[in-house]
Amino acid sequence: MAVDNPVPPFYLDITAEEREKIHEAVESVLTSGRLILGPQTDAFESAFAEYVGTTHAVSVNSGTSALEIILRAKGVEGRRVAVPTNTNFATVAAILHAGGQPVFVDMTEATFMPTVAMLAQAHEREPLAGAVWVHIGGLVAPDFAEAVAYCREQGLFMIEDAAHAHGSATSHGKAGALADAGAFSFFPTKVMTTLEGGMITTDDAAIADKARSLRNQGKGSATFGNRHVDLGNSWRLNEISAAIGVIQLRKLDAMVARRTRVASIVCERLERLGLGWCRFDHMTAFSGYKVIVRIPESDARTADDLKAACREAGAIIGGGVYDAPCHLQPVFEHVPHPPGGLPVAERWCPRHLCPPITSGMTEADAERVADAFEAVFGAVGAGS
Ligand SMILES: Cc1ncc(COP(=O)(O)O)c(C=O)c1O
Repeated sequence: MAVDNPVPPFYLDITAEEREKIHEAVESVLTSGRLILGPQTDAFESAFAEYVGTTHAVSVNSGTSALEIILRAKGVEGRRVAVPTNTNFATVAAILHAGGQPVFVDMTEATFMPTVAMLAQAHEREPLAGAVWVHIGGLVAPDFAEAVAYCREQGLFMIEDAAHAHGSATSHGKAGALADAGAFSFFPTKVMTTLEGGMITTDDAAIADKARSLRNQGKGSATFGNRHVDLGNSWRLNEISAAIGVIQLRKLDAMVARRTRVASIVCERLERLGLGWCRFDHMTAFSGYKVIVRIPESDARTADDLKAACREAGAIIGGGVYDAPCHLQPVFEHVPHPPGGLPVAERWCPRHLCPPITSGMTEADAERVADAFEAVFGAVGAGS
């Protein structure tokens, strides 16, 4: 018999008190008549830069445009850019929209991310201009600092796709401050939201200046006026979203702490069951966006079978990261694949599940999720 009220995979974490503050902000924005590039945007950008620990933060209307803008600022047109095949469509699309040539890189089964050796191999095969690395599920790869050092030695840029990694950190600093620039998304399901929105973080004044121009129809560093110096676009965040961003950012650490606690409870139980997942204990903070659980190779059931069984057992499994690697997406068929394919991603992307982890979950909810996994998998033995 199905368990009542299965734990949901998403939670919009905006309290009644915060809703009041949002209503006040909406009123104030509408009264002022300043709907874009006003004081709310300035406040959100300053607070975000301070939080991440970069000199600059430039808000935009999505994570996808944040990536495209950084790539345009780095001048990728006609140049090769390494990208994990295990990422959201947006990471690869942004490279193509900026005129670059994506070079797909495989992943390890332990991290669901590439290694520095895979990056070096891609560069040795044919020189790269740089790389976009994705902090998948909020995890920063254990060798990410080495990958950044490798890029610096080789004269390559390194961009962090931090769409999942608000609040994640290593001993080197916060996600978004670990390489040349970071791109965040505030899409509704992310760790914090502005409804839609994105942010570019960087210490590089040239990237920040170019970003301010490109997001605003290429009007240079001037906010208004009719002189266009770059081929930009309408990629601005609006003032109401920026106001929501300020309110969400104030409690980001609390939301992250709750997600980490929930993730830790679930993972401790998975460990006892003998299931394998992508670890986060090498990090100093983990956004808890997704816990990536590997489906044991000995289990003949498909991910869809297992999702249905988990739902019956009390946990609704949301989207994975990602069930189809990008190099197999029809829209990217024309992008050249490396010789030999990308076998680890092809094997493991369809064989993982992401249990519900939200800042709305109690410890009891986390135990219910673990109970559901226990009911579905039983004890599967170590090393799965
Ligand atoms: C890894 C990754 N990069 C980029 C994006 C794009 O962000 P947005 O939806 O805000 O454009 C997303 C998700 O939505 C994502 O998951």
